Amino acid sequence: MSTNTEKIKELVSKREEARLGGGEKRIDAQHQKGKLTARERIQLLLDEDSFEEYDMFVTHRTFSFGLDKLKYYSDGVVTGRGTIDGRVVYIFSQDFTVFGGSLSETFASKICKILDQAMKVGAPVIGLNDSGGARIQEGVRSLAGYAEIFQRNIMASGVVPQISAIFGPCAGGAVYSPALTDFIMMTEETSYMFVTGPKVVQTVTGEVISTEDLGGANVHATKSGVSHFLAENEEEGILLIRKLMSYLPQNNLEDPPEIECNDPIDRLEDQLNEIIPDNPNKPYNVKEIIRAVVDYGEFMEVQRNYAKNIVIGFARFNGKPVGIIANQPMYLAGVLDIDASRKAARFVRFCDAFNIPLVTMVDVPGFLPGSSQEYGGIILHGAKLLFAYGEATVPKITITLRKSYGGAHDVMSCKQLRGDLNYAWPTAEIAVMGAKGAIEVLEGKKIATIEDQEEKEKYITEKEQEYLEEFANPYQAAKYGFIDDIIEPRNTRFRIIRALETLASKKEFNPAKKHNNIPL
Ligand code: HXC
Repeated sequence: MSTNTEKIKELVSKREEARLGGGEKRIDAQHQKGKLTARERIQLLLDEDSFEEYDMFVTHRTFSFGLDKLKYYSDGVVTGRGTIDGRVVYIFSQDFTVFGGSLSETFASKICKILDQAMKVGAPVIGLNDSGGARIQEGVRSLAGYAEIFQRNIMASGVVPQISAIFGPCAGGAVYSPALTDFIMMTEETSYMFVTGPKVVQTVTGEVISTEDLGGANVHATKSGVSHFLAENEEEGILLIRKLMSYLPQNNLEDPPEIECNDPIDRLEDQLNEIIPDNPNKPYNVKEIIRAVVDYGEFMEVQRNYAKNIVIGFARFNGKPVGIIANQPMYLAGVLDIDASRKAARFVRFCDAFNIPLVTMVDVPGFLPGSSQEYGGIILHGAKLLFAYGEATVPKITITLRKSYGGAHDVMSCKQLRGDLNYAWPTAEIAVMGAKGAIEVLEGKKIATIEDQEEKEKYITEKEQEYLEEFANPYQAAKYGFIDDIIEPRNTRFRIIRALETLASKKEFNPAKKHNNIPL
């Protein structure tokens, strides 16, 4: 055998060893937990044969605790690049079979290398997390490694899309790298995220709580809003990430990818003419309207189970991606509260950072009143959404479906927040407040003087009716040009597509500054 052949054999054998990570026993243990290995996840996520691995032969540089005799190629994280639907992405996948996927100094530098290259190339970064946190034997070097990653996540924010999948433990400060990225996907039962685990919680506060109840996928999908997507298992999660990628551009200087569309642009949806109930207090499902107007009825909802009073997500019009924000009358009458404001504000900012036009559907009775909202800082949180819309320079189309009252009217992408095209359905009610509240304020003193109950109720009904006739319509706003046109509901798809096509060449710039000071 020639020396060359021997050297190639050596390479092949080293690669095989590296691909085994922490060894077959640990791979079996991983499978028994219903989890895939780091490399299996990459294979599923990327286009076939597109993965090119970096730093396969990296090992750690620690001597204490007998680690000098315990080294594994790749050191617990598989990194590299590949493609999704032919487009380049950078990827890291933590390998739980090697020291529990814990992060060492070299592990961190491997992740930093791909983040640095993704920034130079202008390509998205996808992180698959499954880790016991800081590698205990490495002490502060591990903490420094985390901070090196955090710094790069921060610099990459708004430049290239960053997506995190949580496929196992993600605890302590390790949660902050995913938190700095744009989207987090978690899998049911096998993933969890928390800053302090159940044992520390019990020691410090006395609270007894399970891992699942403290930071499981369902908790973060419904209560905290930390995660954006919930998957039943890893395969479903990986498909979700591939789908999400199809809506996103490679970087902030590119437009999102356009696909061919055979769904007629002038498709009339007659049922939309009847979808708003006659009774203004009766709910309807705004997702039916979204699905009726977007291409093929496909809507990729984000944070589906969190703050359900506002709906956000991606869809396409004539093949081009948009971000949709819609009040949902089915939950809390579509009111804006703290959670809904935060949820929508972050989404609006993401879309604006990555050149994704915004389509806003409004049916909002106002902000949720009450001390819990005020003490929780609804003023600041509501202002986040206001700020996000006001600073956004992507094309902004607003359709007022029904209610648009008070401060919430202004917040929901109104004309003066640089809404490019503001349409209303004939069922729109755009006013300072609803009839009941308005008559209480305007006529309260007079009403108090009416002693006869029947007469009092008659007077109130008359006044409310007068108010409704005057204000509960879109014509007042249209009269002042705050609404550009009142459109027939069934024609909404066509009007949105034509508006987006016109606005494709829109150019709008904010003043130069170091950065803004959004009310955090
Ligand atoms: C080194 C670790 C490790 C760690 C796990 N392992 N965590 N090695 N550093 N942080 C090793 C284990 O020794 C074991 O090695 C293998 O990984 C698998 O771990 P098991 O405990 O057998 O697995 P499991 O029962 O599934 O439990 C998983 C776990 C648990 C819940 C993650 O391992 C655990 O609690 N680990 C410690 C978590 C932690 O406290 N990390 C530090 C957090 S502080 P063998 O050889 O037996 O296979 C932190 C700060 C970050 O991360 C700050 C950033 C700013």
